Amino acid sequence: MKDTSLLLLLSSLCCCSTDSARLTVTPSSSQVFRDERVSLRCEDASDGWTVRRNTSIDNRAECEDWGRSAGSSCTISYMHPLDSGVYWCESTEGSTSNTITITVSDRSVILQSPVLPVMEGDDVTLTCRTKMADPPSADFFKDGVSIRNESDGHMTLHHVSRSDEGLYKCRVQGNESAESRLSVSGKPTTTMDPPTADLHLVVLYCISTFLMVSLYRQRATGSDPSVSVVMTPPTHAEQGLDDDYDDVMSAVTTEHQF
Ligand SMILES: *[C@@H]1O[C@H](CO)[C@@H](O)[C@H](O)[C@H]1NC(C)=O
Ligand SMILES: *[C@@H]1O[C@H](CO)[C@@H](O)[C@H](O)[C@H]1NC(C)=O
Ligand SMILES: *[C@@H]1O[C@H](CO)[C@@H](O)[C@H](O)[C@H]1NC(C)=O
Repeated sequence: MKDTSLLLLLSSLCCCSTDSARLTVTPSSSQVFRDERVSLRCEDASDGWTVRRNTSIDNRAECEDWGRSAGSSCTISYMHPLDSGVYWCESTEGSTSNTITITVSDRSVILQSPVLPVMEGDDVTLTCRTKMADPPSADFFKDGVSIRNESDGHMTLHHVSRSDEGLYKCRVQGNESAESRLSVSGKPTTTMDPPTADLHLVVLYCISTFLMVSLYRQRATGSDPSVSVVMTPPTHAEQGLDDDYDDVMSAVTTEHQF
């Protein structure tokens, strides 16, 4: 392995490997009223990630075309029904995040339901809202069938399972909201959620890699430890060590394959 490719490998693994982002939205609701303010944010994103959308009038349109952008965030101050659509984050290289579907309602009643799939076993609360205040009472429907009448406008589904998936809407005094889909995803196999687990592995990998390289270099060249952690191309005197150096690197790579 040449040192240039080694450097490329290390930099791709250690500085830029979090090639993913998560889109979040505030308020976290699949439906919003016309004229409401909505902020979209690309979380865990490095530079160059921007919010894009597909609507009935936009195709992969960037934030600049329809919102106010600040870094990896994008805000629409007054939502319009034509802002209804699918939103996601995209990097300059074309990587994409999760998508979020937002419906901007012209009706007097909206259903606030989670924008992201909820985890099996979680409790999920759906809220029926009118423009004025929380409604005194609301009827909730799943797939067109009335399932509950709640006096405070909130319906909580306890320990959701796949069977709770479906299209939900609510009704207040004869006025119905639009429908929104509730998605339930399976329980993860580990206790850490995937992005966190990923990041931990990468950090562990980087620390151990740099530590081993630094230890090796210290031992091989007897150089100052503070200098040895810096990855510099070898001098001519060090060229002969390249083979051993490669062995260390492949050992590290094998140990931390993921
Ligand atoms: C956005 O629209 C384009 C063109 O219709 C389509 O190829 C793409 O899959 C859409 N993206 C999303 C996230 O829906
Ligand atoms: C229901 O709709 C009617 C007609 O659009 C409206 O006057 C009334 O205020 C609405 N009720 C609620 C609770 O939003
Ligand atoms: C809720 O109330 C409406 C009448 O307001 C009734 O038609 C419906 O069956 C009720 N739903 C449930 C689940 O009790």
